[in-house]
Amino acid sequence: MSGHHLAAAAVAAVLFLLSPPPCAADPDDERCLSHLHQSLSDPSGGLRNWTKAAFSAPCEGFFSHLQGVTCNNGRVYKLALPGLSLGGTIPPELSNCTNLQSLDLSANALSGTIPPELSALLNLAVLNLSSNALSGAIPRELASCAYLNVIDLHGNQLSGAIPDELGLLVRLSTFDVSYNRLSGPIPVLLANRTVGTARFNASSFAGNKDLYGYPLPPRRTRGLSVLAIVGIGLGSGLLSLVLSFSAVCLWLRATDRTAATPGKEGKISQLMPDY
Ligand SMILES: *[C@@H]1O[C@H](CO)[C@@H](O)[C@H](O)[C@H]1NC(C)=O
Ligand SMILES: *[C@@H]1O[C@H](CO)[C@@H](O)[C@H](O)[C@H]1NC(C)=O
Ligand SMILES: *[C@@H]1O[C@H](CO)[C@@H](O)[C@H](O)[C@H]1NC(C)=O
Ligand SMILES: *[C@@H]1O[C@H](CO)[C@@H](O)[C@H](O)[C@H]1NC(C)=O
Ligand SMILES: *[C@@H]1O[C@H](CO)[C@@H](O)[C@H](O)[C@H]1NC(C)=O
Repeated sequence: MSGHHLAAAAVAAVLFLLSPPPCAADPDDERCLSHLHQSLSDPSGGLRNWTKAAFSAPCEGFFSHLQGVTCNNGRVYKLALPGLSLGGTIPPELSNCTNLQSLDLSANALSGTIPPELSALLNLAVLNLSSNALSGAIPRELASCAYLNVIDLHGNQLSGAIPDELGLLVRLSTFDVSYNRLSGPIPVLLANRTVGTARFNASSFAGNKDLYGYPLPPRRTRGLSVLAIVGIGLGSGLLSLVLSFSAVCLWLRATDRTAATPGKEGKISQLMPDY
């Protein structure tokens, strides 16, 4: 046996010892995938080969029998199930796929909220939940996924404010929350990277009726301009002044008249002692 054959055999042996057994089941991935499967509805059969048996061993190295699953070193590393007409909700147990780097459930019919538990996915770089029917708030906990590069949540029914903390994600290069029901001010750190340089432009925030602030226009006063409000204020002030003035005049005139007419009341009041 020549020297380099020996070396090659040694390298092969080391690689064999280092590589995980091909069908090693990971209990966390199994929990993650079976909960995901349970909470999704699959009317068009895109997840036909998502079977219980496959969940216990979803990975063979980089390969997976499960539609949309990519593995790395025997762990689920990517979940890509866009455009499969999936209904149902995103289960908090998705966070048990602890090696997940990319989660794409876009262009389905998912409802319910985005579980804050997803913040346990510390390697997550891509989160694409766009074009679904997700509601509730954007969890501020997502800010602890420090590797997040892409957050695409456009085209849902998310409400509430955009959490300021998301502006602290330094790797964020794509951020799209357009066409939701978000409200409140746009976090300064998402709008301006450094003063004068737009970080994300208006197209990231468009289609949310009650979001305001740069790069969108400033807060709108509902329907009325400032001038109109000032005008109405002044006008109603003047009107109430005139009304109360004429009321006082009428009252004065009436009391004058009763004092002038010597009636029973006048006599009684004259009999009353002075205090
Ligand atoms: C599972 O479904 C996907 C897509 O339909 C297919 O590519 C894959 O080969 C299937 N796997 C098995 C084991 O049937
Ligand atoms: C799995 O996910 C659930 C929900 O987020 C969590 O409570 C549980 O601790 C996780 N299990 C493990 C082993 O991480
Ligand atoms: C998210 O998914 C949608 C639909 O599948 C796709 O059009 C979009 O480009 C994706 N977003 C990013 C940032 O890749
Ligand atoms: C962001 O930058 C723009 C353009 O320079 C500036 O006009 C705006 O005041 C800044 N917004 C905030 C909230 O600092
Ligand atoms: C906004 O930024 C995106 C890339 O981040 C770019 O494709 C798009 O053209 C920009 N839109 C406007 C109106 O500047």
